[in-house]
Amino acid sequence: MSWFEVQDLTWFQKLCIKILQCGKIPEHVAFILDGNRRYAKKLKTTVEAGHVSGFDTLSRTLDWCRHIGIKEVTVYTFSIENFKRSKEEVNELMALAKNKFEELLKEKERVKENGIRIKVIGNISLLPEDLQRLIARVDLMTAGNDRAILNIAMAYTSKEEMTHAMEEIFWGTREDLLVPSDVDDDLINQCLYTWESNHPDLLIRTSGEVRLSDFMLWQTAYSCLHFSSVLWPEFSFWELTKAILHYQVVHPTIQEAKCVASRKCRSCNQLDPQKKNRIDHFINKLREKEDLALKSIATM
Ligand code: FPP
Ligand code: MG
Repeated sequence: MSWFEVQDLTWFQKLCIKILQCGKIPEHVAFILDGNRRYAKKLKTTVEAGHVSGFDTLSRTLDWCRHIGIKEVTVYTFSIENFKRSKEEVNELMALAKNKFEELLKEKERVKENGIRIKVIGNISLLPEDLQRLIARVDLMTAGNDRAILNIAMAYTSKEEMTHAMEEIFWGTREDLLVPSDVDDDLINQCLYTWESNHPDLLIRTSGEVRLSDFMLWQTAYSCLHFSSVLWPEFSFWELTKAILHYQVVHPTIQEAKCVASRKCRSCNQLDPQKKNRIDHFINKLREKEDLALKSIATM
């Protein structure tokens, strides 16, 4: 199945979307895709086939999100912990990802027409070199797009992301771009792999597991967390509808909590123009460094 599966919705699905759209639609939804291997076991098929079915469900889900009007999706496809799985399974997952990123590069015109930004978040240096190259090329190919955003978390954990952000800040202080008192939550946020994104409004985890497994711990401080008991390959339009309804019910409470938190921060922060200039300069230098690194990976 391709990345951009276009499905014909039934009249009832279309009606449900209209009803959902009377309420608040989350702008950014994050998914922990869990349960591919249990699904494979249930169907008495191979683990590899379970992951392929997982990809097909991802493709269908992206189409439902597009129909519903969800602008940004982030998916946890491979955690740093997943490198501890059998060599065979890791290789199969890497081969599947390689194949899917090659397809994306071939679909350049379609990606451009639809204005889709695709970005891999994670420590991509841990991935095989050929996959790193494809990821960097897809990132550069889609860099100017912003109609729909897909973030693919690979070789990702939140703890690694936060450690990486700290390393960038230490680099900034070593280069005399920052002083220690510049460090605050806005600066850390700008140094995360997700710096381009708003934080997820809704996080969905499948397979009945009720934990975050080191995924977007910083970014989900005020997200609606929805745990679904179905295995990821069985995730359906109706499961997505249920999750959005859950979000619509809790949205007012979450908004209120967010308002209280931002009020507290504003009263703590005195606007210091020198600090602002230093941080802007540091962020520009950081982006230049990241851009150079990406371009060098794309051509390696
Ligand atoms: C979790 O189920 C799933 C994964 C670790 C892999 C998810 C990957 C895909 C859906 C394909 C990704 C494709 C691209 C292009 C990146 P699990 O293996 O933990 O299953 P279990 O919980 O039943 O053991
Ligand atoms: Mg699992």
